[in-house]
Amino acid sequence: MASLRVLAVGDVVGSPGRKACVEIIPRLRQREQIGFVIANGENLAGGSGITPATTQELFDHGVDVITSGDHVFKKKEGEELVQANPRILRPANYPASVPGSGSVVATSSCGLKIGVLNLLGRVFLKTVDCPFEVAEREIKEISRQTPIIFVDMHAEATSEKVALGWFLDGRVSAVFGTHTHVQTADEAILPKKTAYITELGM
Ligand SMILES: [Fe+2]
Ligand SMILES: [Fe+2]
Repeated sequence: MASLRVLAVGDVVGSPGRKACVEIIPRLRQREQIGFVIANGENLAGGSGITPATTQELFDHGVDVITSGDHVFKKKEGEELVQANPRILRPANYPASVPGSGSVVATSSCGLKIGVLNLLGRVFLKTVDCPFEVAEREIKEISRQTPIIFVDMHAEATSEKVALGWFLDGRVSAVFGTHTHVQTADEAILPKKTAYITELGM
């Protein structure tokens, strides 16, 4: 059976983070035969927000989809960017009037369709729409195109991330957390085969 390897990178922070991506991701892609790369870019530009140059730098060095979170619109360029490029996501549970989209179906280097969904937690963060309800709706939609789905749950509280992992177990390929910038060591394959980690780190 053919296999697909996916690399998920947590919050890429400022120029040191971008430099690390530029140096490491192309090599890692080749060495580990990685077919698809997702990176959280909310801190790409000067540590907060996104700009055309900083997102392009990641796309030029092997990143397929950029997810984000509460800092996506910290720089004014953010709004235009998420509208212009469907591979740059903002949280799906922002209100519908917010520019951009919270999910995308992209194609891996070997031609597989891969869904990516970006959600924002509500515990200890500003109130947004319910990530659980929105996940339900979005996954139903993405599943029409592909069963391979990755979820970036950008959230503060470990409990909320863990809950989302269990909620989506068996319905998506993986749920990973971002935002706190400190990696957790709780990576697991949940009972219904969804891969899970509370936080990828910085
Ligand atoms: Fe962050
Ligand atoms: Fe964040």
